[in-house]
Amino acid sequence: MTAEPTLAWMDRGQAAREREALIALLADSVDSGASVGFLPPLDRAEAEAYWSSVDAAMEHTGRRLLGLWVVGELAGSIQLQRAEYPNGRHRGEVMKLIVHRRFRGRGCARMLMSAMEGEARRMGLELLVLDTLQGDVAEGMYRKLGWQEAGVIPRFARVANGELHATVVFYRILE
Ligand SMILES: CC(C)(COP(=O)(O)OP(=O)(O)OC[C@H]1O[C@@H](n2cnc3c(N)ncnc32)[C@H](O)[C@@H]1OP(=O)(O)O)[C@@H](O)C(=O)NCCC(=O)NCCS
Repeated sequence: MTAEPTLAWMDRGQAAREREALIALLADSVDSGASVGFLPPLDRAEAEAYWSSVDAAMEHTGRRLLGLWVVGELAGSIQLQRAEYPNGRHRGEVMKLIVHRRFRGRGCARMLMSAMEGEARRMGLELLVLDTLQGDVAEGMYRKLGWQEAGVIPRFARVANGELHATVVFYRILE
């Protein structure tokens, strides 16, 4: 088995086979204090329900789920969703970039972002949007990767200590 990271867009079958790893990935992220929609500790039923909702989105709305494996282990994932309304079909939302703590700091997120962007271009998308908690590692990372800040929304998400925290909205025009 190669030590080189492997990237693959999952179909629903592969996502189902990776369900346990996806749950572990989400749980690790939430438990690390990341703002990915949930508060720690992540309940297994909540994690199950979340990945079931992703499966439904893959089936009905064309949600794309990209995984990154290192020596056969799921190290990270990211999702891409084309906007549903007719006037927004050129636009995609980037969601839930997650790298397991054991694999952070070695370029996994950079690889996921780059592959995601390549696919977005192939899909004909012209604009990508995402948001991330102000002050998080991810905020600096998106800036470094060339994303533009659209603005800051205060009191956007509750964090682990119960306080409400601002989010930064980013966009990237694909030319
Ligand atoms: C944010 C996250 C995805 C980064 O993953 P990663 O694989 O460690 O990131 P990479 O190693 O690919 O680093 C990409 C860039 O981000 C920066 N970066 C990553 N971790 C960093 C850290 N701890 N401190 C400062 N900069 C950091 C680096 O500068 C790097 O740029 P470089 O390649 O020029 O050195 C990861 O920390 C994570 O999963 N966090 C929890 C979930 C989360 O917050 N997701 C974002 C939600 S929108």
